[in-house]
Amino acid sequence: MNVADSEVVVSILSDAGYEPTDDIGNAGLILINTCSIRDNAEQRIWGRLKAISYLKKRKRDLKVGIIGCMAERLKEKLLETDKLVDIVVGPDGYRSLPALVTEAEAGHKAVNVLLSREETYADISPVRMDKNGVSSFVSIMRGCNNMCSYCVVPYVRGAERSRNPESILGEVKELFNNGYREVTLLGQNVDSYNWESNGKIVRFSELLERVAVISPLLRVRFSTSHPKDISDELLYMIAKHENICKHIHLPAQSGSSRILNLMNREYTREWYMDRVNAIHKIIPECSLSTDMITGFCTETEKDHKDSLSLMEWAGFDFAYMFKYSERPGTKAARKYIDDVSEEIKSERLREMIDLQSRLSAKSKKNDRGKTYEVLIEGYSKRSNEHLSGRTSQNKVVVFPGIGLKKGEYVKVLIERTTSATLIGKSI
Ligand code: 5AD
Ligand code: SF4
Repeated sequence: MNVADSEVVVSILSDAGYEPTDDIGNAGLILINTCSIRDNAEQRIWGRLKAISYLKKRKRDLKVGIIGCMAERLKEKLLETDKLVDIVVGPDGYRSLPALVTEAEAGHKAVNVLLSREETYADISPVRMDKNGVSSFVSIMRGCNNMCSYCVVPYVRGAERSRNPESILGEVKELFNNGYREVTLLGQNVDSYNWESNGKIVRFSELLERVAVISPLLRVRFSTSHPKDISDELLYMIAKHENICKHIHLPAQSGSSRILNLMNREYTREWYMDRVNAIHKIIPECSLSTDMITGFCTETEKDHKDSLSLMEWAGFDFAYMFKYSERPGTKAARKYIDDVSEEIKSERLREMIDLQSRLSAKSKKNDRGKTYEVLIEGYSKRSNEHLSGRTSQNKVVVFPGIGLKKGEYVKVLIERTTSATLIGKSI
């Protein structure tokens, strides 16, 4: 999400005559795109700000801006911080950046944290910052209406709005024409994508199909799905098109129905299991990943065991796991007590990570002896004789490959696996 936003910002500033630089010492303007989802993400930004204060001392006219979610949440605090921050712009204010930079250059504090009901940056062609030139993110909606009780996103990124499908298709076609072979359609809850125009409605499964038929050589991924909204119709669409990747990221957050209810997730453990069963039935070769939060308010040892047993049952191929971090202003912060100690949160997280390492290793071991179509992304990190790419299931594959180029597809027989990677040979 933040990479996609940064690409929009670079595009807006490039049009206004600014150029990006790789050398921070050379910069006349430093913008830090921020995330507020957990406290440690914000703490890292405070650390980064301290680190660039020495640059500011050396270079008087250097301007520093904080953009994104943290700007939205902490406007006053940021502007007070040792006069280090000149510009504060929330996620819906990027179009005003050129004017605000000019204002800052004139010595004024420049702020825009207004949230919008319409802004989707639909007409802005993001300047790609990825290095591989093969896979890219495409934002299809902004904001979120879901109000999960722990989550700050609806407050800092505003209400949900979908982007015009024609502008999405235009952007994807341009990427494809420029050599890209994989796009990931991004939104907080892609299943609720909904574009209405002249009485006609486009929902996510239709959008996905329209992107997929651009070319069979283009892989399509998407993130994130919400278990309460992921429909059989969508699953059939994924199954129908070979180039829609067989991987679903379906955040469970907890395996305890009591905790899910407190989290306001609007589904139960059983509902989640039903959706996983539907995925296996309709798309047998689909891989599954998840997000889990451990130590949410009132979580007992039994609730925690329910999370572990759900993970074991689902056999997730991959998981992002987090300790609950109270976010000011959310329903959980207002109504519940953050009563699981830091020690217990850490212990439960460790247990969860250990379990997931086992599950990830098992999922990779199961791929031994199988052949997968791999989209080549470039050389492997370790050697220039080995290429690296991904399967449709989003697993990284490394294999020797002379004469093959990034952006090409190749069939790879999986011979060995490590904890993070499949290793094989092209056939
Ligand atoms: N504490 C911990 N994890 C959180 N997430 C969102 N809010 C919080 C929070 N307050 C996690 C969820 C979400 C992922 C993007 O971040 O698991 O799916
Ligand atoms: Fe946050 Fe829930 Fe929206 Fe995801 S679906 S962004 S967790 S409120």
